[in-house]
Amino acid sequence: MKKRYLLIAALLSLTLVYPASNYFTPSDEAVSPYISMTKADSLEYAFASWSERHVANGGDKNVVMSLGWSKGLSVEHTYAKGKARLDLIDGKVQVEVEGLADSEISEVWLVDNLNDSSVLPETEDNYLHVGTLVSEGDRAVLSADVGNAFGMFEVDLIVVSRAGQAPVESRVLVGSSSLMQRMYTRVRSGRVPFEGQEPGTVLAALGALGTQPVFASDLVPSFDPLIEQGADLFFNETFAGNGRTCGTCHPAEHNFTIDPEFIATLPDDDPLFVAEFVPALMSNFEKPELMRKVGLILENTDGFGDLANSFTMRGVPHTLAMGNALTPGADGTTTPPDERTGWSGDGSPGSGTLREFAIGAVTQHFPQTLGRTPNVDFRLPTDAELDAMEAFQLFLGRQDELDLSTLALSSEVAARGQEIFVAADSVGGTVAAGKCNTCHFNGGANFALTGGFENRNFNTGVEDLPDQPADLVDAANNPPDGGFGRVPNPNGGFGDGSFNTPVIVEAADTGPFFHNNSVETVEGAVAFYNSDAFNNSPIGQFLVSVDSGGVGIDLEATQVVAVGAFLRVINALENNRSANETATFVKDVNDFATAQSLLGLAFAEVEDAIEVLDGGGLHPAAVKDLKAAKTSLEIAAITGIPFFRDLFIDIALDFIEDADQDILA
Ligand code: HEC
Ligand code: HEC
Repeated sequence: MKKRYLLIAALLSLTLVYPASNYFTPSDEAVSPYISMTKADSLEYAFASWSERHVANGGDKNVVMSLGWSKGLSVEHTYAKGKARLDLIDGKVQVEVEGLADSEISEVWLVDNLNDSSVLPETEDNYLHVGTLVSEGDRAVLSADVGNAFGMFEVDLIVVSRAGQAPVESRVLVGSSSLMQRMYTRVRSGRVPFEGQEPGTVLAALGALGTQPVFASDLVPSFDPLIEQGADLFFNETFAGNGRTCGTCHPAEHNFTIDPEFIATLPDDDPLFVAEFVPALMSNFEKPELMRKVGLILENTDGFGDLANSFTMRGVPHTLAMGNALTPGADGTTTPPDERTGWSGDGSPGSGTLREFAIGAVTQHFPQTLGRTPNVDFRLPTDAELDAMEAFQLFLGRQDELDLSTLALSSEVAARGQEIFVAADSVGGTVAAGKCNTCHFNGGANFALTGGFENRNFNTGVEDLPDQPADLVDAANNPPDGGFGRVPNPNGGFGDGSFNTPVIVEAADTGPFFHNNSVETVEGAVAFYNSDAFNNSPIGQFLVSVDSGGVGIDLEATQVVAVGAFLRVINALENNRSANETATFVKDVNDFATAQSLLGLAFAEVEDAIEVLDGGGLHPAAVKDLKAAKTSLEIAAITGIPFFRDLFIDIALDFIEDADQDILA
């Protein structure tokens, strides 16, 4: 014990000489770290289990892709949507589209984007005309045999175009498949899973298996090179646009999100602010006052047809722990989206996958002018780039769900908060029922009542909150947000009023909260569930109706704080896990600058843990340990000799471990 305090004293005296801020300069340096930190085998496991499920569902004889309007690829807007079922083994294609107002929109094409060309269909790409949709009541259908075309042809896109026009000119409905599907098909047909990948092991193992389907985990390719490329694109690639990158709004050093406090640290010429200094982007691109004061970004969720009137203002969600929060619920609203992304769960264009999200994000946020013409105002990513960005995003953050049935916390207040979080009925239990676990199962984003695998949408009434900061600042530029879909909403917006359930292990350090940044503190977000806005909402009323005592969610002030304490503590534990993972990784890094910026990220995580605990008056002993861990990381970061650097990293890891021990019972 004594020795340790001596050490802390020594460390502290050093910090006086070397203040942290000099060593962890954000932006430029913080962009590179993840490029080298790709040791996690998490995606390999995800791929193996995906493959097993896929084979159980029929494998490549049954590849289903949704079709929809694509912000970025469609040349005209439509509310129609559909599904394509591909049998890649026997060469069969079935398509079904609903809601097509115009029978001229009828030609179904498959597109194989040739190397290095953008995801946009271009003249030099390969095309397969599958056939013409035939009207059948309110649907249009097609069933076609394409022989052995799939042997040579990689399906990058499926496009429905106008009669007599090829996908180069006309694209109305568009869809593509996910990274996992693409990898699987490549491995199965003996192709290299992605550029830069060593074919060796995969192909050798494939040869040994002959023509059997491939899903054994020893055939799983290493995703490392792909994640590396994805990180580079995410932080550095401007896609020939206005200078923004994905990292502009999703910076690594700030939990992949931005808020007014962070925005205030940026220089005025930061590309986040293009709407303030690029003449072509000064109107209808962003609302600068709402960006600076409330952290809101303009989204044309219903298309670019009426820029002056058709938009919503949304907070920037972090992009952490998305792997377990993408599977849509079987609630009849999912053809598309195939995956839930964005605040309303329909953020992605086309099939609605995380992979296609980047097409919409570039088109929305990167243009040089509001004409938004590809190859003029920006370039669209290539297929290889979409694959890499999806891999990188899946790799970020927590890969596993917590298990709240076994998690034991030492803080009495946080432990009670956990009980309230889980309790589901107002009668019969020993604590107040917060019912949070119903929708945020184990602190994630999935619905408990259907087994905890479905990421559902709900109308929780956030839009009905009075006095939202954005309205107080600039109500005229904050139109109602209708949430999911595009049906006219009684509130004046478009959508069915529902929003997608976000993960909340990562919430406490990523406020403000909800899709419109309407609540600043985590306790305020918990208290929202006591409000009339929530209890009168459709899902609030449902919870009342299924409760034995006929009560919705009704927590006293102490109980709100207890649930807040629980959210703070699980957030700190996740910060510590992440800091540990990053700092441990640095022990294998030789390059000084890389080590330094990675340690900067570990440092930022520890700092977040301190803030969320301190902010709730929680775990003073753990906070003390974490401050010492921070100091050790600072010193490690300025230590050039790896042997000594590792010593300081080990000291930091010990302190983090001690903090965890204080937090856990
Ligand atoms: C100007 C700011 C900005 C930029 C630049 C930006 N995003 Fe976002 N991002 C947002 C906002 C705002 C949302 C919420 C959108 C919504 O709800 O419709 C979002 C949502 C997301 C989501 C959904 C996260 C979730 O939890 O569902 C993903 C994934 C994402 N962005 C990826 C990207 C990628 C990839 C890029 C770069 C190609 C990018 N973003 C560039 C602001 C930005
Ligand atoms: C009926 C489902 C449901 C229940 C019950 C529920 N939530 Fe939520 N939660 C949601 C949805 C949907 C959102 C997104 C709402 C929006 O942004 O409009 C959300 C958002 C949140 C957020 C904001 C996250 C962020 O990153 O902005 C927090 C925090 C949160 N919930 C905590 C809780 C707590 C604590 C409870 C229990 C007291 C709870 N939730 C109960 C569905 C639910």
